[in-house]
Amino acid sequence: MTPLTFLQSWKDLARHFKIVSSLHMRDLFATDAKRFSRFSIRFDDMLFDFSKNRITKETFALLIRLAKEAGVEKYRMAMFNGERINITENRAVLHVALRNRSDRPICVDGVNVMPEVNCALTKMCNFSTVVRNGSWFNINDGIVDIVNIGIGGSNMGPMMVIEALKPFVQNGITCHFISNVDDSNIYQVLKRCRPETTLFIIASKTFTTQETIINSQTARAWIVKNLGEKAITRHFVAISANKNAAISFGIDINNIFSFWDWVGGRYSLWSTIGLSIAIAVGFERFEELLFGAFDIDEHFRMEPLAKNIPVIMAMLGIWYIDFFGATTHAILPYDQYLYRFPSYLQQTDMESNGKSITRDGRMVDYHTGPILFGDVGTNGQHAFYQLIYQGTQLIPADFIATVCSHNPVGNHHRLLMSNYFAQSKALMIGKSRETVRDELIQQGFSGDSLEIAISHRVVLGNRPTNSLLYCKLTPRTLGRLIALYEHKIFVQGVIWQINSFDQWGVELGKKLANIILPELNGSKQTDAHDSSTNGLINHYNELC
Ligand code: F6P
Repeated sequence: MTPLTFLQSWKDLARHFKIVSSLHMRDLFATDAKRFSRFSIRFDDMLFDFSKNRITKETFALLIRLAKEAGVEKYRMAMFNGERINITENRAVLHVALRNRSDRPICVDGVNVMPEVNCALTKMCNFSTVVRNGSWFNINDGIVDIVNIGIGGSNMGPMMVIEALKPFVQNGITCHFISNVDDSNIYQVLKRCRPETTLFIIASKTFTTQETIINSQTARAWIVKNLGEKAITRHFVAISANKNAAISFGIDINNIFSFWDWVGGRYSLWSTIGLSIAIAVGFERFEELLFGAFDIDEHFRMEPLAKNIPVIMAMLGIWYIDFFGATTHAILPYDQYLYRFPSYLQQTDMESNGKSITRDGRMVDYHTGPILFGDVGTNGQHAFYQLIYQGTQLIPADFIATVCSHNPVGNHHRLLMSNYFAQSKALMIGKSRETVRDELIQQGFSGDSLEIAISHRVVLGNRPTNSLLYCKLTPRTLGRLIALYEHKIFVQGVIWQINSFDQWGVELGKKLANIILPELNGSKQTDAHDSSTNGLINHYNELC
């Protein structure tokens, strides 16, 4: 594999960067009346505007050339063809099969996985229907509490989607999420549930994750205490690739939903892990979500790279991270229902591309995955935007908004949207020294105090942003949005030549916690670790 920095397009970009880095977007807009139409793409009702980026026609062409040269098309095909592209775990990466709404077979080792996927979907459909219509607990009305016990991908996807689709959640169904091993998490949830009508969904691909297992055991004890041992089969179902462990826990074999090793945890909301979503919003809506992702899968699979939204999003990220030295990326949804979207994307992106070793085992000599952060507008504006405007770091940002509110109240939505439009404009255009000077002179400033006041008030602008704007946050739109980011992450992993589908670092932390657990015994002093870890453990043992 040719190292990334040896590729001709990479070298050309490095040269080209020297020219572009001194250009201001203000001037690029002023000299090109077609900039918006050149650098925006419409996908159905969704508009992707990337014209407020520090690129020229030549930059764009070079970035697309890099995508080609780095093999994005080849790897894209390999993923859709079920090849084992997760090389360190020798697995295919097929979340696209989970939402393949066509009859196109998708094979792993020559076996079409679609019949099994469709069978699992039918099972989800049947189960979610009986829970929703009350027959699972034999009730006509009242509240059913659905408690998803899982962590990481077995928690964040369903939790984010259910929050995002709240307007579609059936009355009487309350979804709760227990993920953290912290006892306060399960305590707060169980306090709000009635055992008689509480259904626990244990979501764990491996059924060995420490947090999920201990939370499930505590939940099990709660049901047994309130309803007796026999109630377990009615009050617990499991989603796992480890059927035997689920059966040993006491789950009825008919209530185990399968999961495949080619579904990565952070890409799993489309699988049976989405059961809580199907129960909350209904299977039809869950299917719409799948259709949305499928729309983008087809777009990603078929469109040429230069017209391919996730490819463009990815290449812009590469441009800023590897040439401008950006280390972060802000996700800024102007849509309250997406308030969990930034933290959801943190796992998808940072667990995928937080890597520094190439697929052929070399240490990279360039930066890879960014630190993702964000919050909903306008909350973020009153928290961290200042740093984006005037801090020392370049922070590329994605502005995401819905044209129509689910809950129109007075002038709220227009106000929200005025902020959405204003922020990306202000970040781009900034406020020049001359404008600030004129304003301050009018306010009576002069002399030294005028000069100092000017320096503080100048906003350089030239801060890059993408804007995504869609009609309304429906299940289909949400599916599209998530899939866009998934494929963006995929493309960036290909460019950086890393494996985006494992997480060995996280595994290390998990193992160490198991070693330390027996040492938290409240008595014996430990000297088994470095002096800091020993000191912390010993302080804990002294106080507990
Ligand atoms: O955080 C590491 C991780 O392996 C994630 O990738 C995964 O989503 C999570 O743990 C939970 O794993 P499981 O579904 O096996 O309990």
